[in-house]
Amino acid sequence: MLATGRIGALVADGARVTVAVDSAETVAAAAAGGVREVLVDVNVGLPRCGCPPEKAGDLAAAARAAGLHVRGVMGYEGHLMLVTDAADRAARTREAMELLLRAAEDVGGEIISAGGTGTYRDNTWASEIQAGSYALMDTAYARIGHPFGQALSVLGTVISVAPDRAVVDVGLKALGMDHGLPSIEGAQVRFCSDEHTTFAPETPVRVGDRLRVLPAHVDPTVALHERMHLVDGDTVLETWPVDMRGW
Ligand SMILES: Cc1ncc(COP(=O)(O)O)c(C=O)c1O
Repeated sequence: MLATGRIGALVADGARVTVAVDSAETVAAAAAGGVREVLVDVNVGLPRCGCPPEKAGDLAAAARAAGLHVRGVMGYEGHLMLVTDAADRAARTREAMELLLRAAEDVGGEIISAGGTGTYRDNTWASEIQAGSYALMDTAYARIGHPFGQALSVLGTVISVAPDRAVVDVGLKALGMDHGLPSIEGAQVRFCSDEHTTFAPETPVRVGDRLRVLPAHVDPTVALHERMHLVDGDTVLETWPVDMRGW
């Protein structure tokens, strides 16, 4: 049995928590753990979680029979987030949402939850958009041309300089790398290793210089750090703990 006691404890404390379920097992775990409200998670093309669309109605019925309130459906078209051709992305988002809307008819409820930073403009069918990255942004999303500024960077110190390269002390242990190499303004990044990023600067840098490394994938980058510093230029205004990083 999946352990949902921690979520149930939040519900018992008064939090409104809605859990996505996609199987008999997750329905049973939600009910046993004290969860009261669920969305039926439907697979709309991303080969990850989500029940087949044609099974969604049965799963909703099972959830209701287990005493859960079914608020609607969710289907995350995550495989389309980084599709750069806008027309292709829009067409494929429509196809994905057709699957979700059909499932929604069988499930009932009022919520159709879908979308992310990559498809928030294309997805006109969802009643709520699940976007998160837009708040801080990363270089992979910046390439698509969304109107969000890149707020998050990892501050590093130049630790070595050679005629053709320099090295900053921000590497694989500090960056989410699954969307590719990070960027450094005014420099060509060559590669990353455990604690290093090697780059070719356009104008000379010196050992001790501080510079900002821009990650290609913001979510896993944030989870690698204990704190985020909210800055205005070089002034630290506030420091925030990254409280969900251990989950
Ligand atoms: C289910 C689900 N919804 C929404 C998002 C948010 O997407 P983004 O951060 O690209 O806006 C994610 C991101 O991983 C996700 O897994």
